[in-house]
Amino acid sequence: MFQDKKVVFSGVQPSGNLTIGNYLGAIKNFSTFSEEYHCFYCVVDMHAITVRQVPADLRRRTYETLALYMAAGLDPKKNTLFVQSHVPAHAELGWMLNCFTMFGELSRMTQFKDKSQKHADNINAGLFTYPTLMAADILLYQTELVPVGVDQKQHLELARDIAQRFNGLYSDTFVVPEGYIAQTGMKIMSLAEPTAKMSKSDPNPNAIVYILDSKDDILRKFKRAVTDSGCEVRAGEGKDGINNLMTIYRCFTGKTNEEIEAEFAGRGYGDFKLAVGEACADALAPVREEYTRLIADKAYLESVMKEGAEAAAYCARKTISKVNRKLGFVTL
Ligand code: TRP
Repeated sequence: MFQDKKVVFSGVQPSGNLTIGNYLGAIKNFSTFSEEYHCFYCVVDMHAITVRQVPADLRRRTYETLALYMAAGLDPKKNTLFVQSHVPAHAELGWMLNCFTMFGELSRMTQFKDKSQKHADNINAGLFTYPTLMAADILLYQTELVPVGVDQKQHLELARDIAQRFNGLYSDTFVVPEGYIAQTGMKIMSLAEPTAKMSKSDPNPNAIVYILDSKDDILRKFKRAVTDSGCEVRAGEGKDGINNLMTIYRCFTGKTNEEIEAEFAGRGYGDFKLAVGEACADALAPVREEYTRLIADKAYLESVMKEGAEAAAYCARKTISKVNRKLGFVTL
């Protein structure tokens, strides 16, 4: 699609409260693709409405999510940043791909099963076909690489299957995308229960560190982090709390486990927790500052959305035209 560059696409749910797990596992990596690839990062508001949303909150979080990604280092001049509902081609291709996706395939999606249990009063068709809309997001831009968390691997596999099926029936139409599952930080665990993933839906506020938490909050949460009865800062089996803190410290400082063990030899858990808190707070301070500046400037955020949507729509149109022709739609 771009003579010179391959395409990266990823979608992010408009939820303002992103955690350091999201930051280390996804957002921080996003900007590393910008030089080598043409990157599309999309705030997926149409996916969000598969569960009930308060309209004012959805609107606010759409701005917040864009601002947060920009604050975390995504430059709108180097990446196409846009909002899904601003490019109707997503819904268009989503419909077409529904006709090439099997009921059985969608029934097997673990996210659908989980969410249907969680929202038993609202198992709507959109929740069911969520993965075909996601496939449309990806395939519209002839995407080569899709950075996602492990939880989205199954959806990505389905997108590949749909692309291959369509290509098989109508000759080459879509690039078959590859997933890129982040290595570092993909498993940041809860600070309160270090055997479970740090999740923004955790009811215990001390379990989660948000990207936008104040320095005081960050230090307090790390101080209270659950560890074990030992006292030596050393990675090891059964030391889930310490292992998790070491992962976080590694991600923020770039140090290795050996370096960390040497740094804290003979110093105990208290010192270590404080150091992890400080490293985290220091790394996030500039992100928070930039976010505060951006979120106050709605006009600028809207101009970014607008330019992003125009650039995305232009590329999406080419794929839609191709698909229309292949399917046998009359084109005028
Ligand atoms: N389903 C993804 C999630 O919940 C978000 C998403 C939507 C996405 N469309 C996408 C991710 C396309 C990658 C590519 O995290």
